Formats: sequence, C-alpha cells, structure tokens
Amino acid sequence: MTFYSVLVVGMGKRGMHHATAFNANPRFKVTGICDIDTKRLDDAAAKLGNPEKGTDAAALAKAIKPDIFCFCTMPHLRTPFIEAAINGGAKLIAFEKPVALTSAELLTIRKLMQQAGVKAVVSHQHRYGKHYQKVKEIVASGALGRVHTVYGSATGWMTHMLSHLIDYTCWFNDYTPPTWVMAQASGGTKFSDNHPSPDYIGGFVQFANGVRGTYECGAGAPDQPEVAKWWGKNRIGAQGTEGFAEVLTNGGWRALTKSGGYQAGEGAMNYDLDMPPYIQEMADWLDGKQPHQCNFEHAYLGAELMLAMQRSAAQGGQVSLPLTSGADEQSLLKAKLQGQKVLVSNAQNATEFGLTS
Ligand SMILES: NC(=O)c1ccc[n+]([C@@H]2O[C@H](COP(=O)([O-])OP(=O)(O)OC[C@H]3O[C@@H](n4cnc5c(N)ncnc54)[C@H](O)[C@@H]3O)[C@@H](O)[C@H]2O)c1
Repeated sequence: MTFYSVLVVGMGKRGMHHATAFNANPRFKVTGICDIDTKRLDDAAAKLGNPEKGTDAAALAKAIKPDIFCFCTMPHLRTPFIEAAINGGAKLIAFEKPVALTSAELLTIRKLMQQAGVKAVVSHQHRYGKHYQKVKEIVASGALGRVHTVYGSATGWMTHMLSHLIDYTCWFNDYTPPTWVMAQASGGTKFSDNHPSPDYIGGFVQFANGVRGTYECGAGAPDQPEVAKWWGKNRIGAQGTEGFAEVLTNGGWRALTKSGGYQAGEGAMNYDLDMPPYIQEMADWLDGKQPHQCNFEHAYLGAELMLAMQRSAAQGGQVSLPLTSGADEQSLLKAKLQGQKVLVSNAQNATEFGLTS
C-alpha cells in the first residue's frame, strides 16, 4: 500500500500526538521532524523511527518534499510555515488551532493556500468524541424541532478554547456562515500568555439561517460543576423549539427532547481516541474521497467569527461578516483592555487566572 509522507514541525505535546498518530496509521509515514529544541528533536526521533531531523522547517521541507506538512507550534507562528509547506510542495497542510491571531494573517494565509491550491485542515478534533458525536446526531435528526440557538462556554481563555467552541457549534449549524457579530471583553492579564487573550470575552452571533450563536470564554464564564477538570468545563450545545442537546468536554452529554424525553451519556475528551479518525480523514481526502470535516474552509468561518468578536469588543458595535479587510485584533484589544481588571465568576477561575492575591 502506498503511504503519504509527513513532516511534523514542533515536537511538543501536540506535535508528538500528531506524529505518533500518523505513524500508527499504515497510510502515513513520518519522514521528517523539526524543532528548534535539539534535545526534544533527538528524543522524538528515537520514538518515531528516526526520520530526517532539522531545526529549520523551510529547509527540511525543501529537502524531503513531504506530502503533508504538519505544524504544531505556538499561535503566533503561521504565515512562515504555510509558505514553507507550499515551497516544499506539500499536498496538504495540517495545523493547530487557533487558525490565526489576527484577521490580517488569516486573510494572508487563505490567499497563499488558495493560490497554491493546497488542501488544509485545522485540528478541531474533539468532535470525534462519542459525546460530541451523539449531540451532533440528535441535532441533525431534527429531534430539537427548529434549531434557533447554538451556544458555547469555557472557563479556559480565548486563544486556547474559543476556536473549539465556535467550530463545534458551527458544525451543529451545518457551517452556515455568520452575518454579524457583537461582543464585549474584559481584563488584560492573559495578553502576556503564549496564547494571548482577553481574560473574558462574550458575544452574540447572527447566522445566515437566523440561528443565534452565544459564546463566552474565560474568567467570567460560568463554572460547570458537573465537570471536575477545569480545562474540560466547556458546555457546547443547541436549542430548538422541541428541546436541547449539549456536550460537556469532560462530562458527557445530555438532551431533553419532546420525542425522546431526557437522555444522557458518558464521554470525555481523549487524544488517543480523537486523533486516529482525524488523521484517517486526511488520507481519505487525499485519496479523492470526501473532504476532511476539519477542512480549512470550515475553520476559516470560525476564525473569522472569533476575530470579528475581538474587533467588536475593541471597537464597539456590530461587525459585519464576511470580513473584507484585515486588522490586528490582538493589538486593538490589548490596548483597549490595558489595566482593566476582570470580574471572575468563581474562586477557581480566580486561581487559574492568577488573580487571588
Ligand atoms: N487541538 C487541541 O486539542 C490542542 C490541545 C493543546 C494545544 N493545542 C494547540 O497546539 C499548538 C501547540 O501546542 P503544544 O501544547 O503542543 O505546545 P508545545 O510548547 O508543547 O510545543 C511547541 C513546540 O514547538 C517548537 N517550536 C517553536 N518554534 C519553532 C520553530 N520555529 N520551528 C520548529 N519548532 C518550533 C517548540 O520548541 C516546542 O517543542 C498551539 O497552537 C495550541 O493552541 C491544540
């Protein structure tokens, strides 16, 4: 059987998840790995069958010409790796959320990939969890009646979590495009994090099919007492005229519908279970079968929405979508929130945001 060759850049937590899952699937082989940390690189090579190694992703891609260029680095690094992938002749680029920190970069990388005609996927892989699948199945079955609202909340901060919340609600709403967004944000301490974020952001979204989206992320978001793991306190769901269905990232799923009564089940986010199907769909797409569920155009809709929320929070008023020009929402929001103190929703959020003293 032929396999697709893969270069994985960034040998941290997510890079190792990706590389291990690629090598565990006979349709792929990791032929190159890259990190600027040479100790990490050597340790990873030993676990991954000693592929080619390098500290310069662009040079390594040119040398080994992988079918797939996968990068799992911090959110501020996007355009240089998209260029490296294209210059190395990759057929598919796989990268981590968030898609981009600014709409200026979002528009740039989309243009680069469109011009090159390269496929791309973004890792919103929680969706493969059985509890996420169950909620999608209930929403798609029509059991909620007319779906009028989708919603997501997470106590974890924006640049880590909002992309996930938005992507899964857009999935529940069949990736219908949003038409406008209005949002507010508060607190600037997490702008110094490697996932720079306002401490709290919340907003409303109008989708083209009339569905309302509501999102909140960060220190002001509510606790989900049913969930023990703080990063898993995410509640993502849909409401309709005949019921609701929602998933808790580390606390299963529940639904109440006119036809089915109350139902609930188990489920917790698990990389070992979520990565294999995410990886397999790349082979399916490259083989000419159906597009990957986490394809870039889906992720782009969510990224646009997430950046429009930030723009609205920084500048006030509603922001119309699609975005037609780029901006640096990080700088706009950071300047707006400097010195502002967030009001937390519970003691654990205060601890997690370092606001206890
Ligand atoms: N999808 C998910 O569920 C999920 C979960 C956690 C993290 N993430 C995302 O994954 C990304 C990576 O997170 P992580 O936790 O794996 O980070 P990490 O810090 O564990 O790993 C990042 C690695 O990138 C390397 N690196 C930095 N600059 C580089 C460069 N120029 N060239 C090559 N390597 C370079 C670092 O040395 C490090 O080894 C982030 O965007 C994060 O938001 C996604």
